[in-house]
Amino acid sequence: MTSLRLPSRLALVALALSAGLAGTSCSKSGPAASTGGAVTPAGKKIVIGLSLDTLQEERWQHDRDIFVAAAEKLGATVVVQAANSNNTVQVQDIKTLITRGVDVLVVVPFDGNGLSTAVKDANDAKIPLIAYDRLILGTNIDYYLTFDNVKVGEEQAKYLVAHLPEGRKAKIVRIYGYKGDHNATLFKEGQDHILDPLIKSGKIEVVHEDWADGWKPAEAVKIMNAAITKAGRDIDAVLASNDGTAGGAITALEQEKLAGKVLVTGQDAELAACQRIMQGTQAMTIYKPLKTLATHAAEVAVAVAQGKPPVVTATIDNGFKKVPFIFENVITVDKANMMATVVADGFQKAADLK
Ligand code: BGC
Repeated sequence: MTSLRLPSRLALVALALSAGLAGTSCSKSGPAASTGGAVTPAGKKIVIGLSLDTLQEERWQHDRDIFVAAAEKLGATVVVQAANSNNTVQVQDIKTLITRGVDVLVVVPFDGNGLSTAVKDANDAKIPLIAYDRLILGTNIDYYLTFDNVKVGEEQAKYLVAHLPEGRKAKIVRIYGYKGDHNATLFKEGQDHILDPLIKSGKIEVVHEDWADGWKPAEAVKIMNAAITKAGRDIDAVLASNDGTAGGAITALEQEKLAGKVLVTGQDAELAACQRIMQGTQAMTIYKPLKTLATHAAEVAVAVAQGKPPVVTATIDNGFKKVPFIFENVITVDKANMMATVVADGFQKAADLK
């Protein structure tokens, strides 16, 4: 897989949205609402096809719910498909949505390299396609909206480094995500920025590292068991790339009575992870305000279907073209700021975290 570096965060300040997008997103009584909802240039009610990799992880259920609510508020209808982490199923899902005549496609790819034929079909049918959260590589897509994925990795590693024991070499395990997901590479890239100098200087030793196939927690259990078999119980921290893999690592640590003694990172602010943070078996997570991303994506999708494509000046090279690109910031969360971030934002309820 090609590793593509995001443009600098500063470059993204130069992002500009067209009057068309502003018109649909800013005002309930704007042009779209006053005509009874967003319509295509031909006057038809807009239908958005949302193709998700999976709904088995909590975060994607939030993404779906927020996206659908935002699109419906703008007067559009959303048809949702989830591919259960199967590329063949996702290709078929997208083809089905094309056949149903959706006006725009929003896609979270399972495999960033696996959707060339489906995207080509969308191109042939003149249906614009927006990549959501994960980049689709080597194909003609129209927009890409995501979080600052390199920063996610940097923040995970910074937190880990700040909490390692002093005065001796620290031993860590690294659990990466699914190799087919371009984000997994970007998370690792961000982690490398922070860790590489410390590994080189001998302050940190990576005792075991591996990629969790399909981002599955069960894969993380296996990786963690392999790490314990190799390095013994003498492990200071686990740099897990998301909450699902953190959960897997913690299950393996629990079997060894090591949970709570070994620092574990995460990402997504899933309920189970926030509970583990409050209980002390997971140290941190990265909160990605899904409301911002999903709402923004719904606005872009509706604007595109209205024939008023937003002007976005930042781009990212996906190996086929420079794709107009929008990204949102992320927040590091641990026990100390859980209430002020994830809970204050309404993402998780305080009562659920007791
Ligand atoms: C997302 C993460 C998520 C992971 C597994 C990544 O592409 O950015 O938020 O935890 O996929 O679903």
